[in-house]
Amino acid sequence: MQLSAVYKPEPCILVVFGATGDLTHRKLYPALINLAAQKRLPDQFAVVAVGRREKNDTQVRNEARRAAAAAGTHPSAAAGAEELLQRIHYFQMNFEDEAAYPLLRSRLAELDAAYNTQGNRIYFLAVAPQYFGIIADHLYKHGMAGNQGAWQRVVVEKPFGRNLASARELNARLTQAFGERRVYRIDHYLGKEMLQNLLVIRFANTLFEPLWNGRFIEEVQISINETVGVGSRGGYYDEAGALRDMVQNHMLQLLTLTAMEPPVDLDADSIRDEKVKVLRSIRPLTPENMESSVVRGQYGPGMIDGKPVPGYREEEQVDPDSNTETYVALKLYIDNFRWSGVPFYLRTGKRLPVRSAEIVIRFREQPGVLYFGRGYSELGPNLLVIKIQPEEGVFLQFNAKQPGSVGDIVPVRMDYCQNCGTGFDSPEAYERLLADVIRGDSTLFTRWDEVEYAWEFVDRIADYWDQAGTPVEVYPAGTWGPAGADRLLAQNGHRWILPFQCLLTDRPDLEKHGSRPVVGSCQL
Ligand SMILES: NC(=O)c1ccc[n+]([C@@H]2O[C@H](COP(=O)([O-])OP(=O)(O)OC[C@H]3O[C@@H](n4cnc5c(N)ncnc54)[C@H](OP(=O)(O)O)[C@@H]3O)[C@@H](O)[C@H]2O)c1
Repeated sequence: MQLSAVYKPEPCILVVFGATGDLTHRKLYPALINLAAQKRLPDQFAVVAVGRREKNDTQVRNEARRAAAAAGTHPSAAAGAEELLQRIHYFQMNFEDEAAYPLLRSRLAELDAAYNTQGNRIYFLAVAPQYFGIIADHLYKHGMAGNQGAWQRVVVEKPFGRNLASARELNARLTQAFGERRVYRIDHYLGKEMLQNLLVIRFANTLFEPLWNGRFIEEVQISINETVGVGSRGGYYDEAGALRDMVQNHMLQLLTLTAMEPPVDLDADSIRDEKVKVLRSIRPLTPENMESSVVRGQYGPGMIDGKPVPGYREEEQVDPDSNTETYVALKLYIDNFRWSGVPFYLRTGKRLPVRSAEIVIRFREQPGVLYFGRGYSELGPNLLVIKIQPEEGVFLQFNAKQPGSVGDIVPVRMDYCQNCGTGFDSPEAYERLLADVIRGDSTLFTRWDEVEYAWEFVDRIADYWDQAGTPVEVYPAGTWGPAGADRLLAQNGHRWILPFQCLLTDRPDLEKHGSRPVVGSCQL
């Protein structure tokens, strides 16, 4: 059902702080233009682009138009978006200049009158995290947040703090200004189509939900593999590392959606209550089990797509002696009734051979009595792969008899791809997320207690590494990470399962789960 057909969002002004920045250009402008083309924006709507440089409205509108074209928005979207572009207004200020805030308030009041937006505001903070608190404080102090009679929402990007203590401090400032219900913390993975689909696949199929527990599932593997290095984000990344940049948010979000119990209904809080229970049930990592549960790696020089690439320590704005991790692998347990004893393996890394994000469920093997030792080949595992990117869909591997053979059993695959040549373009995550903030639906945003438990978990690891001086294990760019990550699974007799793209190749040496390709051996 088209949302636009049933619901017209309330009037508002979207105020984008950091409008000359990368995020606004690559994500926000294209998402807005697509929403405008689909008529999913309010009729009374305007955008105030806040930036530090001198610019005028025409320049900013042209930038937005170009940004949308560069992002490959559909040409029909650009045509439909002209009206929106005319409603983008530039406001120049320095976030740290308190005197600018009353001027911003007057400008917003003028635009309220012009567009009949009734004092409703969305403040999108597309700015470096050190400004989140400053901007929120000033908006509050100058009467632009938490007002009666109209709503004001604030959207913040990751990273939400650097540890639990800094996240708490930031949260106190944001909630003082806006209140928890009006703080929208973005984890853009939650805006991805397949993550929303994950709950449908789990809870709308008799085929899966009864098997979704430790009686039938042997292990769960969650991976976000990147082929890119740190690029121009070396300064930020060297301070953060993969644990804070990926595990604290995206990886733990994938884990909670995979492991959560069915919610009582689909309300934002009902879903988030269940996600929080998962975070609370993760067995705490202790100094005694840390080394056998967590692996940290860093890419050295190597080859990606047949081309040499530098190691992390040679990257721009990175300390040449950096001990920051670009790869993390974790083994964890969820100590609740459903998952008792099932290992969850999480890994994420840069400069790996294949770009993919996926959740792999490996089911327990059937007793081999019928087929083992009687001339039949070995049974392969039943795998269910939730493909999040680059393909979206579901991949199911099961066993069947090789046609024409006497007793050969071969793995066969059913592969559903929802964005392959179906004529359906999945909406970009930011499109969905922006539409939800405008509608006031916070389901796909992280609630404070999720952030808090996630930081508690991550802080234990980061503090241990700091105290123990845990070195990174260097892996050549273009390989599947440090050898320690293989040992992590070998303790339980498990192996990393290749991304589904590799499982689908015709290379027999890549077909068996767990085979470890050398550099670039899974050609895509
Ligand atoms: N880019 C991404 O893909 C991405 C992904 C995930 C999360 N994020 C998060 O999103 C936020 C924005 O990232 P970004 O990559 O867009 O950053 P960016 O390219 O550095 O943009 C920052 C923006 O803030 C403005 N700014 C900085 N200091 C200012 C000041 N004192 N007064 C007024 N304006 C000021 C900059 O203006 P000038 O142009 O004048 O410098 C620019 O418009 C960050 O929190 C980042 O961690 C970004």
